Amino acid sequence: MFEELNNLVQSIADYSYETYQHSVKVGMLSARIANFLELSKTQVSLIKHAGLLHDIGKIKIDPIILNKPGRLTSKEFAIIKKHTEYGINILSSYPWAKPFLQLVNLHHERWDGNGYNGIHGRNIPMGAKILALADAFDAMNSRRPYSQIKSREQSINEIERLSGTQFDPCLVEKVIQDSDKILIIDWDGVVKFEIRKFK
Ligand SMILES: [Fe+2]
Repeated sequence: MFEELNNLVQSIADYSYETYQHSVKVGMLSARIANFLELSKTQVSLIKHAGLLHDIGKIKIDPIILNKPGRLTSKEFAIIKKHTEYGINILSSYPWAKPFLQLVNLHHERWDGNGYNGIHGRNIPMGAKILALADAFDAMNSRRPYSQIKSREQSINEIERLSGTQFDPCLVEKVIQDSDKILIIDWDGVVKFEIRKFK
């Protein structure tokens, strides 16, 4: 499993280095949130690896659209939205990846039901809600061609603002309470992950 998983993560790095770095950070942040919530070791591991693979479908998106500076047109956004479906298609060929499929499919759901598949509230699995929160936090903290980078404090404020619409309010409340320990982008961890992976 780990060799195939590593190869898949490598294929993300080869296609889009930004997506790769984002994936590593989302995997690490999601695992930290899941640990903090005292989920089982199996759940934490599942969520961490789903974080690493959540955007794998982006390797099927035209790089012109994936890396486009500026706002996407509605047609381009519809293409970007297909990355969850592409991700499932890629992972379906690996029997060990079966437990990840649901989380990869649902990582863009919103608490209010306005996400990719329109699933809302408690119907969204906890792992997918954790991925969505980690994904958004890292996106706010990262340089994007179409949006200003936010400070850590601004990102936390933004997450609080979106509590109850985009994010599960109970999850936000718990994570925000201990945000100093949880919402940290661990650059050392990213570097170590890369060194381990690339040697
Ligand atoms: Fe995504």
